[in-house]
Order: sequence, then structure tokens, then C-alpha cells
Amino acid sequence: MQSLTVELAERSYPIHIGRGLLDMPQLLAGSLQRKKAVVVTNTTVAPLYLDRLLVNLQSIGVQVVSAVLPDGERYKDWQTLNQIFDVLLGSRCERSTTLIALGGGVIGDMGGFAAACYQRGMPFIQIPTTLLSQVDSSVGGKTAINHPLGKNMIGAFYQPRLVIADTDTLNTLPDRELSAGLAEVIKYGLIRDLPFLEWLELNLERLLARDPEALAYAIHRSCANKAEVVAADEREAGDRALLNLGHTFGHAIETGMGYGEWLHGEAVAAGTMMAAELSAAFGWLTHSDVARIEALLQRARLPVVGAELPVERYLDLMSHDKKVEDGRLRLVLLEAVGKAVLSDKASEAQIMSAIARRLPNA
Ligand code: NAD
Ligand code: GLY
Repeated sequence: MQSLTVELAERSYPIHIGRGLLDMPQLLAGSLQRKKAVVVTNTTVAPLYLDRLLVNLQSIGVQVVSAVLPDGERYKDWQTLNQIFDVLLGSRCERSTTLIALGGGVIGDMGGFAAACYQRGMPFIQIPTTLLSQVDSSVGGKTAINHPLGKNMIGAFYQPRLVIADTDTLNTLPDRELSAGLAEVIKYGLIRDLPFLEWLELNLERLLARDPEALAYAIHRSCANKAEVVAADEREAGDRALLNLGHTFGHAIETGMGYGEWLHGEAVAAGTMMAAELSAAFGWLTHSDVARIEALLQRARLPVVGAELPVERYLDLMSHDKKVEDGRLRLVLLEAVGKAVLSDKASEAQIMSAIARRLPNA
């Protein structure tokens, strides 16, 4: 097992990464305020891992109930969130009961938001089971649900007490979901860690083949990058925004196509290519840099062109982005491969042209 810490003073917490961690309830014991917990998961993950977690928690004397939600991005909404509150209230959970999110980013984001709201805040633990959630969404305390007009628009910053990434759970993950997770892994290399990007270029096939050693390395390195950024800028006053490379374009695809049509990681990959095109238009990236990024995303079996929506629709959806300030869109661009920057310099025409270059049949 490898461990690292997200340094946030009195709210610091560990991330444990390794094989078989679901069967080590002692990892959880120290982080439970009381011997009562509620596990939030979904109908796909429950048959795979819920019973094991429940039995292991009971073995250390924890009284535990579960909330099993429908599976899918389209359920990341108020109605489904309310199902968590129904279980919390129905089973008389107290403010000191711990909520454990067992699943991918959708469950982590919703479980975290429920924990932030229930009785104004209950302790919360993340047990991420997708690559995307192990490298990104379980770390850093962003929690949210979607609104029909925009992704992740209703939420809170609320840090977990502990993150446990059992890499064995990735063995049951569909290939398409593994690739979606790789989009966020590649992101860290592109925005701030060129040596990691070079490692990914050499080791991508090992990751696709689920080589446990390669996966553990990539997850640890991704979490180390994320932990460093979050520790320096928890509430995204500055550099944390750089973690959103490709996301403003990508969120437009997710919302525009209907939640769940495109996986988050797929939309981020296509959005990253749009950001790369805009960076090239500014003269920051060369055409061979753009081709290099495209080649890596393609090897990861990710889309490198966006969804077929009118360019004007992209712009409209992007205008809801959380990085909009005084009505002006700020975008994460690449000054160089391995170095991201937040910029409000792009004109509407430049943004539209970058999108158009990455549309089907462009
Ligand atoms: P997801 O949660 O929808 O999980 C993907 C699919 O895999 C689901 O069908 C899920 O049930 C299934 N699954 C989960 N674990 C499995 C396993 N071990 N074996 C088999 N199937 C399994 O999607 P995701 O990619 O994990 O997360 C995407 C979400 O995360 C989006 O809503 C996105 O907005 C959010 N996100 C949040 C942050 C953040 O900082 N909070 C960062 C990135 C993404
Ligand atoms: N996924 C972006 C962030 O956590 O800030």
C-alpha cells in the first residue's frame, strides 16, 4: 500500500492506494467518529463490492446501513440526492454518523454533497472504484449535482476524512470507463508534470492492459499532483482552475448531448483537443505539440473530436462555466506541453474557430 496526505491543516487527510484495501477495515476504523456508518453506492457497484464492505465494517463493530442509488450521470440530480437524505433520516443517522461513498465519481460527488448538507455536515469517506475517481474526483473536496443548464452547478467544497483506492476494484471496470479515467491521468502530465507525460507515452499500453504496478504508479502520481494543487488552492481562487483543462468545452458536450451520452473523461479528451487548438492559435503550442497530444489520447482510445453540436450551442453552454468572471470566459490553455495557464484572452471568434477545427467532418 502507498499513502500520501492532502495537506489542509486540521482538515488534512490520507489517501491510501493499493490492492485488497477493501478487505482492510482497520484502515477505516481510525477515521470513524462513531461506530455507525451509511454506505452510499449504486445498483452496479453494490452487487460487486457492497456486501464485502458491509461485512468488513460489521467485523470491527460498526453498525451500517446502505443507500443504493440508480446508476448513471443522469441521476446526479436533486431527486436522487434526496434518496440519500431519505435513508439518512429513515435510519436515524446522527451528525456524527460517517457517510462512505463507494463507487465512481457520480457516487462520490453526490455522497459528498449529501454529507456536506446533512445536519450541516457529517463526516465523509471516499472509496473510489473507477480509475477516474481514484485519480481525480475522490480527492480535493469538490462535491456537486448537475442542473439541466450546467454540469456540477449545485454543490459545495467539502473534504473527505479519508480516501481508500483499492486498485483491485478496477478489474471489473469496463474498458470504456478505464479509458475515460485515462483522460484525467493524461491531464496531469499536460498541465504540470512533463516527466509524467513522458512516462505515460512509454507505458500507456501497460495501463490499458491493467498492469497493477503501472496502474498503482499512475494513480499515486496523479493523486500527488492533485493533492499538491488542492493544498495550495483549496477553493480554486487561482491555480486549482488549471485542473480543468478541457473541462469547459467538455462540460458543454456533456450537457449539450444529455448527461451520460458522453462519459466525462471522453468529453474532457475532446475538450482538451479544443484547448490545444486554441493554444496553437496563440502560438504557444506547435502543430507537432497538438499532434503529440492527439496521438496519446487516441492511444488511450479516447475521442479527439467533439460532439456534433452547433458552435454557437457550445458557446452558449460554455457561458455557464464556473470560471466565468464579469461575464468573461476564462479558459485553461497550454503555454507549452506540461504547462497550463488560465487565460481570458481568447476572442469569441478564436474560441469558435478552435471548436470548429475539432468537430466531426471539420
Ligand atoms: P461514474 O461514477 O458514472 O462511474 C462509471 C461507471 O462505472 C458507472 O456505471 C459505475 O456504476 C461503474 N462502476 C464504478 N465502479 C466500478 C467497478 N469497480 N467495476 C465496474 N463498474 C464500476 O463515472 P466516473 O468516471 O467515475 O466519474 C465521473 C463523474 O465524476 C462526473 O460526474 C464528473 O463530473 C465527476 N468528477 C468530479 C470531480 C471532482 O473533483 N469532484 C473530478 C472529476 C470528475
Ligand atoms: N477536477 C477538478 C478539481 O478538482 O478541481
